[in-house]
Amino acid sequence: MEIPDLYGELKDNDFQKIGSFIYKNYGINLYPKKKVLLKSRLQKRLKHLGISSYSDYRDYLFNNKEEIIHMIDKISTNKTDFFREAVHFEYLEGIIKNGFANNLDNNELLVWSAGCSSGQEAYSLAMTIDNLKSEIGYKYRIFASDISLSVLKTAKEAIYPFNLLNQIPLVFRKKYLLKSKDKTNPRFRIVKELRDNTEFSFYNLLSKDAFSKLKFNIIFCRNTLIYFDTETQIKVMHNLIRHLKKGGLLFLGHSESIINMGLPLETVHPSVYEKK
Ligand SMILES: C[S@@+](CC[C@H](N)C(=O)[O-])C[C@H]1O[C@@H](n2cnc3c(N)ncnc32)[C@H](O)[C@@H]1O
Repeated sequence: MEIPDLYGELKDNDFQKIGSFIYKNYGINLYPKKKVLLKSRLQKRLKHLGISSYSDYRDYLFNNKEEIIHMIDKISTNKTDFFREAVHFEYLEGIIKNGFANNLDNNELLVWSAGCSSGQEAYSLAMTIDNLKSEIGYKYRIFASDISLSVLKTAKEAIYPFNLLNQIPLVFRKKYLLKSKDKTNPRFRIVKELRDNTEFSFYNLLSKDAFSKLKFNIIFCRNTLIYFDTETQIKVMHNLIRHLKKGGLLFLGHSESIINMGLPLETVHPSVYEKK
């Protein structure tokens, strides 16, 4: 689609400066082909800020830390679903039933959804784990993080449109969802008990600071590595591994590969790895 040229050209050197900043700090690679995409996504910011050219926007960006967060929000790809790659949730249920959570520190299962988007992955984990709680008798906490503030807002609110209902197994729909009575805007909300066990925060997976002092039993980082080149993937993997307990499990997306990275991980199931 042709974009109306309201703000003139996004010059190559402005594109390169913004692109290399995003790559260096957030790992997202804006190849030359993505110039049109960046231009169209930044248009809303220029309009909002009353800035009349991309060059002025670039100057504004590099002098205003807060703007960087808004820009990242515009360029991140946040596609997600409830129970996406459902076999992971089935596998998780199976290993918990078979004793994975039998000897937890403080009897508490700690889970991190890294690159959580609008929360569907974190709440799918919460439903799967909560459902086994009475059978197994443990506590659990889900931590979830992303670099996009708008998806984190949706995740915290935990309100979703009705058309996503069919992604959630029927038993969980009955147990964990509150349905709105508003027929003009039908939505559902995740129940308070699950929301109380789930915490969302801003965290850049390339950060040198730790996400948390905690080490996790389970980390889901799915469909996020694919946006990074190999060098960045290795940095992110080391960051994830330092947050994983020995014997803990890391779940990646099915299309993501960590072959030849020399990591202390052993494959235990397709795209599921145990820390040695
Ligand atoms: C495609 S979504 C995947 C969501 C979910 N994990 C799933 O599989 O459905 C990828 C998410 O990673 C986030 N992301 C991208 N770069 C990141 C970074 N450097 N640190 C943290 N999150 C990042 C994006 O904002 C986006 O919400």
